[in-house]
Amino acid sequence: MLWIKAFHIIFMVTWFAGLFYLPRLFVYHAMATDAASKERFKVMERKLFYGIMTPGGVLTLISGVWLWLAYGFGGGWLHTKLALVAVLIVYHVYCGRLMIAFRHDRNHYGHVFYRWLNEFPTVLLIAIIVLVVVKPF
Ligand code: HEM
Repeated sequence: MLWIKAFHIIFMVTWFAGLFYLPRLFVYHAMATDAASKERFKVMERKLFYGIMTPGGVLTLISGVWLWLAYGFGGGWLHTKLALVAVLIVYHVYCGRLMIAFRHDRNHYGHVFYRWLNEFPTVLLIAIIVLVVVKPF
């Protein structure tokens, strides 16, 4: 069980590296004016999303469900955590859609929008970590 939990945390850190960095790339991509920079950002975004962030997310979910179902964890903290994880998945998919819009040069938002978007996973991370460690209910 401790091995699965260790890998659950490792996969979660991998996932969050992407959840934090991809909107940061969008900030710089939205500010870029020359074609060479835009093409470079497209490659960086695609590799981050498909190579790191999505595998990290999928493995976090698999190891989390494994912990949940195999070791009898339960309680209000877990249900609230699952609801927040669902929001995190929506955020992940939304970032993927934004990346595809950038790929086709159809971005509609300015860099300030992406700076605010970047704060969203921070709030979810704090809430989820407090729930699993403190288990307030
Ligand atoms: C389907 C999604 C997930 C499920 C079912 C799940 C389930 C679980 C379970 C049952 C535990 C063991 C709790 C304990 O040892 O007391 C755990 C631990 C943990 N989970 Fe998740 N988890 C999921 C996703 C996530 C995500 C997205 C994060 C981060 C944002 C996360 C962060 C953690 C951490 C840090 C621990 C270790 C807590 C500790 O050892 O005190 N989990 N998870």
